[in-house]
Amino acid sequence: MAKIIAGVSSSHVPAIGAAIDNKQTEEPYWKRVFSGFEKSKEWMAQAKPDVVILIYNDHASAFSVEMVPTFALGCAAEFPPADEGWGPRPVPVVKGHPQLAAHIAQSVILDEFDITVVNKMEVDHGLTVPMNLLFGSPKEWPCPVIPVAVNVVLYPPPTGHRCFMLGRAIRKAVESYPEDLRVVVFGTGGMSHQISGPRAGLINSKFDKAFLDNFTKDPKKLTRIPHLEYMREAGAEGIEMVMWLVMRGALEDKVDEVYRFYTVPASNTAVGHIILEPHSRAKKKSAGKAKKPAGKMKRAAARAKTAVRRSR
Ligand SMILES: [Fe+2]
Repeated sequence: MAKIIAGVSSSHVPAIGAAIDNKQTEEPYWKRVFSGFEKSKEWMAQAKPDVVILIYNDHASAFSVEMVPTFALGCAAEFPPADEGWGPRPVPVVKGHPQLAAHIAQSVILDEFDITVVNKMEVDHGLTVPMNLLFGSPKEWPCPVIPVAVNVVLYPPPTGHRCFMLGRAIRKAVESYPEDLRVVVFGTGGMSHQISGPRAGLINSKFDKAFLDNFTKDPKKLTRIPHLEYMREAGAEGIEMVMWLVMRGALEDKVDEVYRFYTVPASNTAVGHIILEPHSRAKKKSAGKAKKPAGKMKRAAARAKTAVRRSR
């Protein structure tokens, strides 16, 4: 059966993508940001997921304001990078996983979670920037990606609680998929930022850090944050943080924080990043480690027996 092996949350600041595309990652301003993801890339290279389910928001690239689904599931075989005004980003076309995506659609919709099925869609920086941060800049992305777009650009966005419950429904769907797939769920967006109006440039590190703390240990507390509180404390665009709660809902209640990174600013945004693994997975890992010496000893004993027989 498929299983969710980890959750990754990350900001998806468009200027990070521009810094990559314009080869500015070694400049001191950007190095501070990118250095925070070096360990994450190593972790991802070890994790080697078979599929990524990536929660993000479309920034009027695939959906204009004429039609904005609250939740949209990418079921296509591929998703080309969108032209966001200066040509598509020079990143690989994202390959989808139509079979798992169709299964998720069936499972969540029959579970009374009405998601919009999207069979043709371009993806913007909301998806491609976190892919770069975790996988670098390869010629081809190393695994298929199922995009899940959440509306946080047009009022009313979904509540944090609804996002969390979508994560739960996605987990149920993944865990009922018969193929043995190792799945990593990304929750992207945020953290605190406001890009226009008198409060443009707002960053609230205290709010962000408290969010990160509770994200690991008490996510249900976060599901009760009303939209107005996000607006007031984290800025107008801080509402993107509800998307992290989809990822958190997709994990079991008890998780282990593998890694965390926070820095300000990147462009006019706070950058937050966290990697969580289900606690049950950590227990299995340590049980496996504990068994290894016994296995090694058995193999060593077998080798010794063979050596004795040969010497006879
Ligand atoms: Fe965004």
